[in-house]
Amino acid sequence: MGEKLRIGVLASGTGTDLQSIIDASEKDMIDADVVTVISDNKDAFALKRAEKHKIKAFFVDPIGKNREKHEEEIDAVLTDKNVNLVVCAGYMRILSSSFVKKWYSKLINIHPALLPSFKGTNGQGDAINYGVKISGCTTHFMDHETDHGPIILQAAVKVLPGDDRDKLAARILDVEHQILPRSIQLFAEGRLKIDGRKVKVLAGDSWKDKYETIPDVLYPEGY
Ligand code: GRF
Repeated sequence: MGEKLRIGVLASGTGTDLQSIIDASEKDMIDADVVTVISDNKDAFALKRAEKHKIKAFFVDPIGKNREKHEEEIDAVLTDKNVNLVVCAGYMRILSSSFVKKWYSKLINIHPALLPSFKGTNGQGDAINYGVKISGCTTHFMDHETDHGPIILQAAVKVLPGDDRDKLAARILDVEHQILPRSIQLFAEGRLKIDGRKVKVLAGDSWKDKYETIPDVLYPEGY
């Protein structure tokens, strides 16, 4: 087997999406290693998760720098660690078009709603407040527009009676922890072909046959 994919994760918060990638890597579910974690928030628990797993963690302070300078420092870390896939896992800053252009097709994001619905920082709450019956999560390549790039995987999660934002968000998060590592493995296997707005997932194995799935979740082709 060839070189493992080298992943750089950008995270601003708790880091459970990051943890799902680390866990999948350590269980050999994905042919990839997280080689660095970068945060714009010095208190991000994601940094502590990285350190616990002996992964180089960097707090890149945005204060006192314009976006270009801040991203230059982030890019330097990614380049120095020979990263070949950047994963935004709860990274709360908007990345500049020049950063996205440089990393395009090797830069993915996860969003806690079924894009293009409910973009932005509260996809779970916006969905439930709208009164949807089905929500879910999306992984996608990042492009020049926020929450807009070509979609890799989506999974649909039922809204249940008695759900509030946090209950729905927790169930969606469990599914994020499945489709994010899966998206990375499809990337590692070279099975993601971007064709304009669309991503074709080339034929191959399915995790539905190998790993536990969650009841009442609709998994996409390619999962
Ligand atoms: C996730 O819900 C992700 O979809 C969104 O931010 C959240 C990050 O959660 N972009 P965590 O910090 O990985 O637990």
